[in-house]
Amino acid sequence: MSQIVLGVGGGVAAYKSALLLRALTESGHDVRVVPTASALRFVGAATFEALSGNPVSTEVWDDVPEVAHVRIGQHADLVLVNPATADLLARAAAGRADDLLTATLLTAHCPVVFVPAMHTEMWLHPATQDNVATLRRRGAVVLPPAVGRLTGPDSGPGRLPEPADVAALAELVLSAGAGALAPDLTGRRVVISAGGTREPLDPVRFLGNRSSGLQGWALARVAAARGAEVVLVAANVELPAPFGVRVVPVESAEELRTAMHAESSGDPGSSGQGAARPADVVVMAAAVADFRPATVAGSKLKKGGAAEPSSVELVRNPDVLVELVGARLPGQLVVGFAAETGDAEGDVLTHARAKLARKGTDLLVVNDVSAGRVFGRAENEVTVLATDGSATAVPPGRKDAVAAAIWDVVSDRLPRQA
Ligand code: CTP
Repeated sequence: MSQIVLGVGGGVAAYKSALLLRALTESGHDVRVVPTASALRFVGAATFEALSGNPVSTEVWDDVPEVAHVRIGQHADLVLVNPATADLLARAAAGRADDLLTATLLTAHCPVVFVPAMHTEMWLHPATQDNVATLRRRGAVVLPPAVGRLTGPDSGPGRLPEPADVAALAELVLSAGAGALAPDLTGRRVVISAGGTREPLDPVRFLGNRSSGLQGWALARVAAARGAEVVLVAANVELPAPFGVRVVPVESAEELRTAMHAESSGDPGSSGQGAARPADVVVMAAAVADFRPATVAGSKLKKGGAAEPSSVELVRNPDVLVELVGARLPGQLVVGFAAETGDAEGDVLTHARAKLARKGTDLLVVNDVSAGRVFGRAENEVTVLATDGSATAVPPGRKDAVAAAIWDVVSDRLPRQA
């Protein structure tokens, strides 16, 4: 259980902070809500007190003997400001201490995460951007705002991410520190495949695999929070899209292949979709079927019918990863995944090094799947191999923490931006 200070700024999106508070307390954290006076015009103190089980105050003059502005900040494991308005970012950047929340920000030793929400013009204004840069330079996390519907009929960057996304990112910072959400992927375009392909046998049946898509989802969520423009080519995953991520749904290996080529080259091809610029990083986290049925029946295969198959003939699917390596653009990094087990011919890393050389990727993320680990679990443990011979062991952790460690390795290897 961690001690979290949930700062709430005065914007319409403050109502979402009640749901975020609920998610944090349900995960077992002790949350102290510190709203600004204007936040309480949107959501009443009683709501925050009931959901947190803790008193709520806005001013340093409340509860003076407790010296709350010092004690609350000093004892926190995380200060999460949601929503962070333009005014709150400005006051925090200026180091003001004119209410309990800003005073708490000055006394906190722990990671601080701001989740901005405001109108697009206010977010893009140079004053706000300077304040964001100042706060980031001092080590605070300032998440990029989601793009979407704002308070009125308009839409654009400035929307508050959904509470579930913020709660997941808060857990990541609690376990891995503020560095896990460094803005080092700002300006980068990242294309990630996730999930498991389905190879049709007839209109109702397919050959599939057990991939849950959770690691690919985590990679997408963390990359977007670190500033990247993210496309997630998702094979048969029912999870909601992480905030800031465009999901391209696919089913078969062939559909995945077409989407990955279009998205990583920036050439929309015949689909007419996709972005106009190539990807800086291409990650193949999907479990792509190596084989597909040689023929797909046009109607359902029936028991006892003339077309009842006695066996299924399989043909090889193209290796999408190898194709993407062949089509790699200058400066583009291609990352593969490998699920390996040790055997009489070598241990997991020996097999993985051979695969890195065979596939020609810049990095290979190696999962040890001995004893049925990984699939569908929130926890993972990987080693990241690079062509320079390095092997970065990522300790066991939640898939978001593993994703952050993978992005650290990728980020170190990206060419400098102009
Ligand atoms: N992959 C791919 N296209 C395929 C099969 C796999 O792009 N048809 C990608 C996966 O997304 C993953 C990597 O290749 O990033 C490793 O896949 P894996 O199945 O472990 O490797 P294989 O080449 O199939 O090697 P083997 O089965 O011999 O271990």
